[in-house]
Amino acid sequence: MKKSLIAHSQRFVFLLLALSFALPAALADEGMWIPMLLGRNEAAMQKAGMRISAKDIYDINNACLKDAVILFNQGCTGEFVSDQGLFLTNHHCGYSYIVSHSTEAHNYLTNGFWAEDLAHELPCPGLTATRLVRMEDVTDQVLHGVSDSDSEEARQQKIDANIEKVTAEAVKGTHYKAIVKPFYYGNQYFMYVNEVFRDVRLVGAPPSNIGKFGGDTDNWMWPRHTGDFSIFRVYTGSDNKPADYSPDNKPYRPLKHLTISLKGVEEGDFTFVFGYPGTTKRYVTHDEVDLSANATNPIRIALRDIRLRNYKAAMEQSVAQRLKYSSRVASIANGWKKWQGETLGINRLHGVDQKMRQEASFQRWAASHPQYESVLPELNDNYSRLWPVEIEWTYFNEGIMASDFMNRTFKLWRALRETQFDDSLAHEQCEALVAENERFFSDFAMHSPTDRAIFVETALYVWKAGQLSFLDSKYHGEAAVRRFFEDLYDNSILNNKDKYNKFLHSYRTKNYTKVISGGIPAVDFFNVAYAHAYSSDKRSTHASARNNINRLMRTYVRGMMEQFPDSNFFPDANLTLRVTYGHVQGFRPRDAVYYTPYSTLDGIIEKENPDIYDYVVEPRLKELYNNKDYGRYANSRGELPTCFIATNHTTGGNSGSPVLNADGQLIGINFDRCWEGTMSDLLFDPDYCRNISLDIRYCLFLIDKFAGAHRLIDEMTIVQ
Ligand code: ARG
Ligand code: GLU
Repeated sequence: MKKSLIAHSQRFVFLLLALSFALPAALADEGMWIPMLLGRNEAAMQKAGMRISAKDIYDINNACLKDAVILFNQGCTGEFVSDQGLFLTNHHCGYSYIVSHSTEAHNYLTNGFWAEDLAHELPCPGLTATRLVRMEDVTDQVLHGVSDSDSEEARQQKIDANIEKVTAEAVKGTHYKAIVKPFYYGNQYFMYVNEVFRDVRLVGAPPSNIGKFGGDTDNWMWPRHTGDFSIFRVYTGSDNKPADYSPDNKPYRPLKHLTISLKGVEEGDFTFVFGYPGTTKRYVTHDEVDLSANATNPIRIALRDIRLRNYKAAMEQSVAQRLKYSSRVASIANGWKKWQGETLGINRLHGVDQKMRQEASFQRWAASHPQYESVLPELNDNYSRLWPVEIEWTYFNEGIMASDFMNRTFKLWRALRETQFDDSLAHEQCEALVAENERFFSDFAMHSPTDRAIFVETALYVWKAGQLSFLDSKYHGEAAVRRFFEDLYDNSILNNKDKYNKFLHSYRTKNYTKVISGGIPAVDFFNVAYAHAYSSDKRSTHASARNNINRLMRTYVRGMMEQFPDSNFFPDANLTLRVTYGHVQGFRPRDAVYYTPYSTLDGIIEKENPDIYDYVVEPRLKELYNNKDYGRYANSRGELPTCFIATNHTTGGNSGSPVLNADGQLIGINFDRCWEGTMSDLLFDPDYCRNISLDIRYCLFLIDKFAGAHRLIDEMTIVQ
């Protein structure tokens, strides 16, 4: 769906005329709730089947489940499963640490890794695990002295100063760290006092054909059979407090670790997920939904199509190319696939119209609440200004920046600009680029055809979209433009190691002007394209529109809460600890298809294909399957369950989160969502939105039966 600005304002008129009911309150199973305020959800959770209390989950006076949950770095979740600081997270969360310890001789990524004892657990410099000590509503302190007439900038300055005071006070005399985060677009502020552990070690990981089974083909999909877990341990000083890595450190003794249940779950059973969801946009207006679903998502998807097609073709050609591109393909494909599901989901739900109906209802209500009357028209107006800039930037970031060629050009351009008045700094940065060239050119002959194709095709795509019109005065028609891009690539010194290094060695800042304005054609092209997309006009339009939107959303959300005073509005995810709950449940992805809620080892054997890298089954796993050697990890039907789906509302960051049963015992590890429901960041639909979890029985089976890492099983608290 294409939209002009005129269609935009017409829409708004339509919205004012539209007549219907609004549904702002959370739907069944929707919501990511604040642990400290869980008392408000307790009755509903117990009615849904929970047998523990809100206080068992979050309590500042007693050890509780929250003490067993950690933020893994800044983007995943983990949970303690022993009194020795052992914790579980996803394989894809631990991935880069597994890779960093892998060598050709010890390929832990491919073969798996199981430390035989504490002494063999592997330090991971830079990796942190953060435990929430307590949280507190600090809205009054943070908004002290702030008034409605403040500009957004002035307001933010006051807020930042207040936050500094509150956090400093909160951690005085302790080793804790405090942060404050806005909720409901800054209508409320919560402080988080954290304990950040700095010595975290890799303990175990399955081979990647288990931990990443199904690869990008199965990613975001059900039925799923990925053994997506890895195991780490927190170490501390002898006082049980965070410390830098030292061989003398001891395993951390957590206040609480999770009890693991082997009972499993059946369809309809209550579950909840406790973790760190990153970002949702539950309350945005139809403009934002339309912008993502119908404008920026399609651009990003189309440009990533080009990259993925070229990388995948290369990966078919040799093992070396498969290795080189696999992790970048994984990350490009992850967003690419999610956005497709998101756009389909939003349009299936008529998400834009649904939002417009809510806005119409708000507008009718606002007729008698004059302070809210102009908020929606103003939001609409700001989106009209934001829209074209967002689109242009999406083309630039996903298109112009798609190739290594342009990324390297950008790095050179940036170095030249940053150092234009300082010869010794220029020298330093040029030498750093020389050092990067060493690595980059080591496989240039292999890589270059792929990078060239990606550069030419993405740039041409951006040009066809009318985004590089500055080329039109010089190059007439597609063939000429294509030729220009090809020549730019083929003749660039950036694609010739000797010439490029020679340039970098001899560069002096007195040549800056000459170099930047045409001396190096690739830099010139980048410079002009960048100046078009990121002109100071567009930057300030974008910044002021975004600022206004943020301010207006604060008012709009406050208004909706007044409009529906009896609804429990959950705050959007913001990488703070949340509880979400639901039921184990299958779903109907399309006509005549029903997905049952759990998968088994049989499905792995069904998917096995020795010729496709992602579907190779480990011989040892097959042997266990053939012997039906599942031990206590089988379900009552004698199957080995692998994954299950439920209606818990999760998002990126919930990876690795504990999935718990009605008694608060660990039954799974969250790692994904079903593709048909990935619009849940914007719109939740209980018929389609499902989180995907690794069944804890498959995880333990792999540790115990597959890897024989009995010492780890012995540490855990496991109940039947
Ligand atoms: N979709 C999951 C998430 O968003 C897993 C991503 C990693 N796995 C992959 N095959 N790329 O993080
Ligand atoms: N795999 C995602 C993560 O890394 C979780 C999936 C989702 O977005 O829900 O957090």
